[in-house]
Amino acid sequence: MSAEGVDLKRRRVLTAATSVVGAIGAGYVVYPFLAAWAPSEKAKAAGAPVEADISKLEPGQLMRVKWRGKPVWIVHRTKKNLEDLSKLTDKLLDPDSEAPQQPDYCKNEYRSRKPEYLVAVGICTHLGCSPTYRPDVAPADLGPDWLGGFFCPCHGSRFDLAARVYKGVPAPKNLVIPRYQFLTDTTILVGEDGGAA
Ligand code: FES
Repeated sequence: MSAEGVDLKRRRVLTAATSVVGAIGAGYVVYPFLAAWAPSEKAKAAGAPVEADISKLEPGQLMRVKWRGKPVWIVHRTKKNLEDLSKLTDKLLDPDSEAPQQPDYCKNEYRSRKPEYLVAVGICTHLGCSPTYRPDVAPADLGPDWLGGFFCPCHGSRFDLAARVYKGVPAPKNLVIPRYQFLTDTTILVGEDGGAA
């Protein structure tokens, strides 16, 4: 083999080696861009739907789940709670849920997919406090007409057990009902409804 032949061969080897290093280098360069474009785990968690196991939620009880950083209540209403809802119409600001505070499938007298379960965002529509669950009937501090509901301690707004706001309180709207669906009889997925209307 000539000296020139050796040089040519060495050049080819060096060129190939450089290409490999270049490819590896390019790999390291490309990766951070991909990582920057992909949604972070935190972002996914912040917007992801949340499953709630309601198998142990007894009638009259409330449980909370966190969805998009907000408290979401799930209340197992009693038969009496459901009967009482229709007695409050005159006292409520938007008893028929005309304001867009709920998906269409919750625009009904119970504001829910199944009458016995209320799912609502637990944030007052006045200035964002979280109201207190007050299922007790006619307590001394809320008066003889109180049939159970939610009381906001910040400025006194009242909501019934369908999360509908009373007239004459600071909060201007019913509480928000999020999108949700029943995955099974005892599991609710908050934040996703499978595209239901
Ligand atoms: S924040 Fe609830 S009444 Fe003001």
